Amino acid sequence: MPKRYLVTAGLPYSNGRLHVGHIAGAYLPADTYVRYLRARGEEVRYICGSDDNGVAIEISAMKAGATPQEISTRFHQLQKAAFAGLRIEFDVYGGTHQPGFQELHERISQEFFRRIHEKGYFTKRRTKQLYDPQANRFLPDRYVRGTCHYASCGAPGATGDQCDQCGQMIDPLLLVNPVSAITGAAAEVRETTHWHLRLNDFEQPLRAWLEQKQGQWRPNVLNFALGQIKQGLPERSMTRDIAWGIPVPLDDPDAKGKVLFVWFDAPIGYISFTAKLCAAQENDWRGYEKWWCDPDTAIVHFIGEDNTVFHTLIWPAMLMADERHQLPSAVVANNFVNIRLGGDAEKVSKSQTAEDSPVWIEEYLNKGFGPDALRYYLTAIAPETARTAFDPQDFVQRNNGELVAALGNFVNRSLTFAQRYCDGKVPDVAAQTDVDRAHLARGEETLAKVGALIEGHRFRAALEELMGYARACNEYFSAREPWRTRKDDSADCAATIATCVQAVHYLAVLSWPFMPGAARKMLQMVGVADAPVQWEVPALESGRPLGEPEILFQKLEADCMD
Ligand code: 2FM
Ligand code: ZN
Repeated sequence: MPKRYLVTAGLPYSNGRLHVGHIAGAYLPADTYVRYLRARGEEVRYICGSDDNGVAIEISAMKAGATPQEISTRFHQLQKAAFAGLRIEFDVYGGTHQPGFQELHERISQEFFRRIHEKGYFTKRRTKQLYDPQANRFLPDRYVRGTCHYASCGAPGATGDQCDQCGQMIDPLLLVNPVSAITGAAAEVRETTHWHLRLNDFEQPLRAWLEQKQGQWRPNVLNFALGQIKQGLPERSMTRDIAWGIPVPLDDPDAKGKVLFVWFDAPIGYISFTAKLCAAQENDWRGYEKWWCDPDTAIVHFIGEDNTVFHTLIWPAMLMADERHQLPSAVVANNFVNIRLGGDAEKVSKSQTAEDSPVWIEEYLNKGFGPDALRYYLTAIAPETARTAFDPQDFVQRNNGELVAALGNFVNRSLTFAQRYCDGKVPDVAAQTDVDRAHLARGEETLAKVGALIEGHRFRAALEELMGYARACNEYFSAREPWRTRKDDSADCAATIATCVQAVHYLAVLSWPFMPGAARKMLQMVGVADAPVQWEVPALESGRPLGEPEILFQKLEADCMD
């Protein structure tokens, strides 16, 4: 068992708004995991922040007529607010180019680059690169489009770094009919100098490390990474010819004007933000070593599927080359979530998706539905083994049919009954029967099952277990008929309602990782103080005062997401 956990979620580029796919991909499962670990009493830090450097931000700024700093700070703030609105709560939300973070991030990233350089893992190479003759600039990989060069794929619309269709790394010079994504001009080939990380030097250790993870990691992640090694890992340039980023820290005239590749410095953000957190909490940024260098810490990265290559191969190779930090214990990758607005499922996109669509988190929150309903739905459709689709109609149906009609209904009928007929207190349990005890035993079993599923990163199955218990609670209530026994067997009625209150207590703790708002309300209703939630459900003593019953979930109108 690790002594502590460092959990990260992929740093979002700070040049756009967050949508449901981002949340379901990495931030929500990581938040769920962290809440559970904390409830288990584990020492945890949850690290995230914006990915501010690189060409995506530079080009967004160019299009908006703003500076990269302005764009990245604007979206950094918007994204931070969206996370907070969904109660995704990081210990630190940094930014690779944000005031207060940029300086230490640059220093740690440059130190990484220098060490890897000194150890001889870079090859300095004069290379050919695609150039946009209209914009007078080299074209970053992401800004070249063409047809995927793998014979097995051949999809149009691949970018110069990756093909979204087959998920493989792309060599931009091999792209078929490359054009500039900035101006649309046909791309030309020109020469430039860059430093390439020889990933092939790490094929053996990476394979050995990944093979140890068989049976622990999701097979899709592992098979993908091992498959890439089997094909052979190409060297990757870790420097770029752009102006926005971290200067290449070499005393070499060829390094002048060049910056680190954004995918070199972005994962180092996990480290530099941890260091900032330690500086704030312990007054010593080097306290980060406890989290990154001590093998008693388990490092768990949550990411979207398109980040798999970087987190399972390139980042671990960088860590191996640098030799100071430990490798991730787990890389948990989710697939994409598309959206289904009537017709076929499609990708959420800045250009195609309506600006006021509730698939944008900011818009969803502006509708005032609260975080729990969305957190519930996105976990219920979590793309853990395959792509899934966010369907607004399905969202409304599941909210009304599952949260309102099953979970909310049981909690409400139990607590209003207790308020009205049991003096607002936990009733006497003296007449509890085997049926009552069996129902509570199921709560205890569910707690163990849900815990084990969350530990195995199976959030969707864990939520199904929770809802299975909520349905069983309604069946229990109906079978025990407290509205009848109230009149002819008050001791039996008291035992039933005491059991229901205790079941609500189970549901509160079980809900905490998934729906913290509803969980808090349930805890307040069963009269448990506002203390940190623990993954255990002690018996509530008879006579304990209960809180006021509150409606847990709002029923939604069919057209509320239009
Ligand atoms: O895909 C993305 O949105 C990247 N900005 C993720 C970076 S993850 C990490 F390495 F920082
Ligand atoms: Zn392809």
